[in-house]
Amino acid sequence: MSKKTFYITTPIYYPSDKLHIGHSYTTVAADAVARYKRLKGYDVMFLTGTDEHGQKIQRKAEEKGITPKQYVDEIVAGIKDLWKLLRITNDRFIRTTDPNHEKTVQKIFKKLYDQGDIYKSEYEGWYCTPCESFWTKTQLVDGKCPDCGREVELTKEESYFFRLSKYQDRLIEHIETHPEFIQPVTRQNEMLNNFLRPGLEDLCVSRTSFNWGIPVTFDEKHVVYVWIDALSNYITALNYLAEDDSDYRRYWPADVHLVGKEIVRFHTIIWPAMLMALGEPLPEQVFGHGWLLLEGGKMSKSKGNVVDPVVLVDKYGVDAVRYFLLREVPFGSDGVFSNEALINRINSDLANDLGNLVSRTVTMIDKYFEGSIPQNRQPGDFDEDLKKVVMETPSKVEELMDKLQFSAALADIWKTISRTNKYIDETMPWKLAKDENGKERLAEVLYNLAESLRIISILIQPFMPETPEKIWQQLGISDKKAIEWESAKKWGGYPEGSRVCKGDVIFPRIDIQKEMEELEKITAKAEKDAPKNNKVDEAGNDKKDEYITIEDFAKIDLRVAKVLEAEKVEGADKLLKLKLELGDEIRQVVSGIAKNYTPESLVGKYVVLVANLKPAKLRGIESQGMILAASDDKDLVLVTVEKEIGSGTKVR
Ligand code: MSP
Repeated sequence: MSKKTFYITTPIYYPSDKLHIGHSYTTVAADAVARYKRLKGYDVMFLTGTDEHGQKIQRKAEEKGITPKQYVDEIVAGIKDLWKLLRITNDRFIRTTDPNHEKTVQKIFKKLYDQGDIYKSEYEGWYCTPCESFWTKTQLVDGKCPDCGREVELTKEESYFFRLSKYQDRLIEHIETHPEFIQPVTRQNEMLNNFLRPGLEDLCVSRTSFNWGIPVTFDEKHVVYVWIDALSNYITALNYLAEDDSDYRRYWPADVHLVGKEIVRFHTIIWPAMLMALGEPLPEQVFGHGWLLLEGGKMSKSKGNVVDPVVLVDKYGVDAVRYFLLREVPFGSDGVFSNEALINRINSDLANDLGNLVSRTVTMIDKYFEGSIPQNRQPGDFDEDLKKVVMETPSKVEELMDKLQFSAALADIWKTISRTNKYIDETMPWKLAKDENGKERLAEVLYNLAESLRIISILIQPFMPETPEKIWQQLGISDKKAIEWESAKKWGGYPEGSRVCKGDVIFPRIDIQKEMEELEKITAKAEKDAPKNNKVDEAGNDKKDEYITIEDFAKIDLRVAKVLEAEKVEGADKLLKLKLELGDEIRQVVSGIAKNYTPESLVGKYVVLVANLKPAKLRGIESQGMILAASDDKDLVLVTVEKEIGSGTKVR
């Protein structure tokens, strides 16, 4: 009989310069599932990739003076490296610039057009000229462009549309009759109540205002816009519509699309509607996980936390980072990431609980029995309770993994680890070792410890790619049968005669205070080096360059001011105290320009004053505003007006 298949996907990632720890979340979670299913004997197809078209990419490439393809090639290489570092075991990596993907998307588009599911019309949208972007009414912020805050114009553009509205009733019915389709359940209600029941509008699926996209074959001035291109990746990667579509037939429908909560809507409305139109089966499940945020909200690169997965893996190892991601937050909910929380988890769960258990067990077998547990053993108190707790764990872990409840599964494994550590305290092997008649009991106690660890090491495999191997080496397990997934369900698999081999501490304890200081230095440096204009969106991803609106600028009251008097400030060699005329008003301002201007040279000059700056005291002297100057490391030059104009005149 052929193996059962399991197809899991992550979203395809936008090529962004620097992926942060939040980005790694979906992929690490998907990898844990893929590894788990492989261990269970499934024929797994695990797909990830990159979403490379669109106006943003085109613009970024233009800014850099390279082609969009050159731009994405470089970034995609970095993304692939990151997945390698995190030991992601994807079977395929799809790029939406792959010729095969592009060809298939064109076929899909044409098929939907030919059968009337795609039609040509006009897209009416709000256009921001400087950003060259269309927005829907609901995307506008206070009626203005959500990216730059400037005025937008109602404009029309010829576009192709997908008849999404036609599938509304079938989608509602599918969701209502397949409770597993959208998980967690809360997201199901959100889709039904917020989007489907109020009614769907047809979807704009082509653009003419930029050209970095897949051309529509029968109307070349159009490129396929966003979702038909991006979502199709899940089937083009399986060679859908190709001459040899055996992979598609083998793996489709997907068992689970793992996605962040902000894209659940596209995966549970647009994607199934597209599949319905194509006459293809729908995926079994779309699971929308929560976001990993930084305290205070956003996964920005600064604010005192290192969020670069490369730095984190380098410092703490891939297993610690993966463990934290999957353990800290229940999958589905939002959670907070902090370096402190990560280090605390490493110290308590990994160094104290698991690390200690390994080193205590191996050390005692080494010390009391020269590395190998004898076969004459005597059962005793606490054995049954330990076995009961350990033996309940594999099935609990399976049940939770099937529901993608990684955190709960790990919590159960760690309960077992704690129970095993407690068993050492209860049985006190060091006392048995001193007792002439205690050898057989001691042998049994140590066997039970090694056996419990064997089972634990099997169960942590989906989450940790490196630690299980280290444990097997230290326990001296080389027989593959003793580490098969199913063997975790039977007590007694630690091979007789195994010889332990003491090794390095698997998770060294971290001095939290010292480490936090070091991390602070890293973030301070990153902040200094970071481009200043980078803003992030709610999920912590880079937004376009930040602009301020004209209204923001209007908040600053800039005025021409005439210097009436100037004098040095006692004891402060950089400061001058100025008396300024501002129309009818007189202002006192303290300014750090003494190294560049003598007091006499200033009198009579017309300067520019920030007139509504909150007054502040400098060396005990009140400063009612700030005068503007251009400065770099070497020089400072005051901003003056080109021609005389009345003091108090507004600068705008
Ligand atoms: N390209 C689209 C997906 C198209 S799928 C047909 C996209 N890409 S993305 O790069 O913005 O996001 C990729 C994944 O990273 C998403 O699942 C997203 O939710 C996840 N995350 C990005 N930032 C995140 C956090 N801060 N926390 C958790 N997941 C986050 O969306």
